[in-house]
Amino acid sequence: MNRVHIKTYGCQMNERDSEAVAALLRARGYRLVADESACDVLLLNTCSVRDLAEQKALGKAANLLRRKQHNPRFVLGILGCMAQNRGAALLDALPDIDLIVGTQKFHQVPDYLDNLRAAREAGVPLGSTIVDIAEEAGSQNTLSAHVLEERQVTAFVSIQQGCNMDCSFCIVPKTRGDERSRPMDEIVRECEELAGRGVREITLLGQIVTSYGRRDYPHAGGITPFVQLLERLDAIPGLRRLRFTSPHPRGFKDDLIQAYGRLEKLCAYVHLPLQSGSDRILRLMNRPYTRERYRQIVADLRRVRPEMYFSTDIIVGFPGETDEDFAQTRDLFEACNYDMAYIFKYSVRSGTPAAGLAEQVPEPVKEERNQILLGLLAANSDRRNATLLGTTQEVLVEGPDKKGLGFMGRTRGNRIVHLAATERLVGELVPVKITRVSTAVLYGETVPAGGEAPLATAVPASGGPKTEIEAKAEA
Ligand code: 5AD
Repeated sequence: MNRVHIKTYGCQMNERDSEAVAALLRARGYRLVADESACDVLLLNTCSVRDLAEQKALGKAANLLRRKQHNPRFVLGILGCMAQNRGAALLDALPDIDLIVGTQKFHQVPDYLDNLRAAREAGVPLGSTIVDIAEEAGSQNTLSAHVLEERQVTAFVSIQQGCNMDCSFCIVPKTRGDERSRPMDEIVRECEELAGRGVREITLLGQIVTSYGRRDYPHAGGITPFVQLLERLDAIPGLRRLRFTSPHPRGFKDDLIQAYGRLEKLCAYVHLPLQSGSDRILRLMNRPYTRERYRQIVADLRRVRPEMYFSTDIIVGFPGETDEDFAQTRDLFEACNYDMAYIFKYSVRSGTPAAGLAEQVPEPVKEERNQILLGLLAANSDRRNATLLGTTQEVLVEGPDKKGLGFMGRTRGNRIVHLAATERLVGELVPVKITRVSTAVLYGETVPAGGEAPLATAVPASGGPKTEIEAKAEA
């Protein structure tokens, strides 16, 4: 009765929340299982950012509820953003759900599961759903536990919850609540501990990380609390790489730009959500920057770090987006030369200001714009990867690749590299000569220090699977 499977939808913050819940459950004596057909408790950690994400989780939940017909003791829970967004209304469509837990109550999941199991064992009749989507002061500080695999090389660390920006398309202020930051000392301690356990690369997470601590810590000599945090993490021995997501363009003031020149561990990779390249649409989106300002940030970052890699988020088909507006987005998209992009078709989120706008863009138009940007992105990615062919890149070896054919790692620019390696190299930063490229991944060979001959041959040597570009655009 204690085998738990957690299925996660959506962003890296959701992944991180699932990991923290898993760690709490493990400490409580539950067993985490990878096989969803062999669990007693199934938890769906959900996403609300687009309708498609909600529909996927709803479909999955409806399917899973059928399992109760054979096994009345099977426990199904919905956690996270959709639980927060829809609350007890989920019971209209899914009356037999056992648990609905919002984004500020993840840490209660072990208690709730204990209660449900005790009730089942005591023969209490089914149909008593636990619903908890309340706010909780300090909930941003409740999830610091990690499930570390042996030899885990990378980790996510949440530094902040919620967002106060009110972008007119976005449901996140509703699902994640007000902006709340964790204490800097606690984050530093968590990262030190991770580094002490062998983690080499940390990605800081939050809905608007560049605003970190703005209400809690003063600027110091023109340095924002976010950059102060980066400085402290950069000094942790053993830690080799630092990344963060997601920032807001308004957070890229001089102190952060200069940090890329000073902080050696800060990777030359910035995810910089643009959303639209049209000033008119940016205003309607309530995004407080212009295309010119955005372009300036990109130029400044490239000046400080010429090898900088950029990724972005774009919404096509925001209400009222004309051909001319889209042409502006397309133009800026090309000018920024993104290495990676997540392109989304606008999705109406009820309760957000943009949902009420009259001029919704027809689906075929959204799709056409989506495809145009995806085409540009693939061409950009090919162009960038062609420049990497034959070069030697610093790769952090993370572990075996998914297919078990060899090992995988990433460059500082966040490019995935497949290579032949040995267990001994996991967690090491190794020079890798890039011998073959596809649109989304690189293949390479480790270069022995000071030598020419490869330590091992790239896997696969030729003609391996060509991975589709990682763009998260909906088909
Ligand atoms: N429709 C489409 N995409 C959206 N995003 C947020 N809200 C919506 C919406 N209503 C995208 C934005 C954001 C990313 C996480 O999801 O691009 O940066």
